[in-house]
Amino acid sequence: MKESKYLTITEALKLGSSKVNLRGWVHRERKSNKFVFIVLRDGSDIIQCVISKSKNPELFEQAGKLTIESSLKVSGELKKDERAPTGFEVSLTDLEIIQIAEPFPITEYQSPELLYDNRHLWLRSRKLNAILKIRHTIVGAIHTFFRGHGYYEFDAPIFQPSMSEGGSTLFEVKYYNDKVYLSQSWQLYAEAGIFSLGKIYNMGPTFRAEKSKTSRHLSEFWMAEMEAAFMELDELTEVAKDEIRFIVEQVLKDNRKELEILERDITLLEGYFTAEYPTIKYSEALDLLNNKYQMDVPWGKDLRTIEEAKIVEHYKVPVVVTHYPTEIMGFYKPPSKDNPEEALCFDMLAPEGYCEIIGGSERSLSIDNMTERLRAEGEDPETYSWYFDLRRYGSVPHSGYGLGVERVISWICGLDNIKDAIPFPRTMLRKAP
Ligand code: 4AD
Ligand code: MG
Repeated sequence: MKESKYLTITEALKLGSSKVNLRGWVHRERKSNKFVFIVLRDGSDIIQCVISKSKNPELFEQAGKLTIESSLKVSGELKKDERAPTGFEVSLTDLEIIQIAEPFPITEYQSPELLYDNRHLWLRSRKLNAILKIRHTIVGAIHTFFRGHGYYEFDAPIFQPSMSEGGSTLFEVKYYNDKVYLSQSWQLYAEAGIFSLGKIYNMGPTFRAEKSKTSRHLSEFWMAEMEAAFMELDELTEVAKDEIRFIVEQVLKDNRKELEILERDITLLEGYFTAEYPTIKYSEALDLLNNKYQMDVPWGKDLRTIEEAKIVEHYKVPVVVTHYPTEIMGFYKPPSKDNPEEALCFDMLAPEGYCEIIGGSERSLSIDNMTERLRAEGEDPETYSWYFDLRRYGSVPHSGYGLGVERVISWICGLDNIKDAIPFPRTMLRKAP
């Protein structure tokens, strides 16, 4: 084959009718007495290639050997063809087989478990390819959003000496002759970082030994967090709303095609871009649930997924719920001065049943209050002495939140299970491949 420039399928389709060189893998193939049809896949798109026996008997013979996922280089004439899957077809004049693939273990109808066992191969599917591209957009949008608003990227250790989000979900790791835990959150270290940089953000791997086998929990996930000095709850929730709108906007701009492949309702996403997102207090959420929907949630109980789902079903857009009961919140979420029973914190809930995508709060400035609450949770406050120093040397009101990257991907892509939002999911029941 002559060595001229290879195009991606997307580049070739932009060019329109022309002579093209392409390379990739066999996505599908079909043979008849007169033709071989190959749907070629290269990561950018798919395109139908055709070889006619009468025009090119030698090529026809060779193409007959191709199996699903065989790798190849082709040359041919690209032309419009209404009958082809992407509206174009390449009539091949040349074909170089790189490898004939062994029989591919994934065929058309497969159980989800087999697909997870073969995740390293299933990544090539149209569905995963589309999700991975949307993930790329979302991750990029988060960096762009914070950098564009004057936040510095700041990194925290993954090995941490203590918990931030409750001891029950810690992963313990042998650390020389000692032990440490995998990061549950970047937050405590970020609270040190803001005294140097003011406004900071990060996106990093986060670990939780979740004992729940839900479609919303991973053991290893990516959290995008922010922390800002001098920021209070009302401003914090607006940052979160702006970030979500920006993410939705970027996906609508860059991923129309992927959303179509996933059969996502694009008009819903357009609505999430333009809508105002309500902010309600936990106590108002209870009024809504108990009075309008005849549920029976007592004050002081955390909202369960079915209750969160009812709230978003009512508003049909992302909703911010603030002022959860202090009693059930983490040690660093401060009681409100007006009513100490309520904490200065919030969750953002996503519509269509996706529920909590963001959690955040102001940070307690009281060493005494935090010490007491840590003791109540069975923690040794001594381990947090460095953290308490931040309240000793120029303490200021400050706030931050964490966004579950895979939770947001699941919602935007309309996925049934969060496991499809990350290339290689880790859950209570899955640690391989
Ligand atoms: O609400 P969380 O636990 O908040 C924190 O960790 C705070 N320290 C963040 C901060 O203020 N800087 O977690 C934040 C978000 C949740 O809203 C959820 O979207 C996601 O992280 N998340 C998970 N995503 C997938 N699997 C899990 N097991 C998750 N646990 C939390
Ligand atoms: Mg939370």
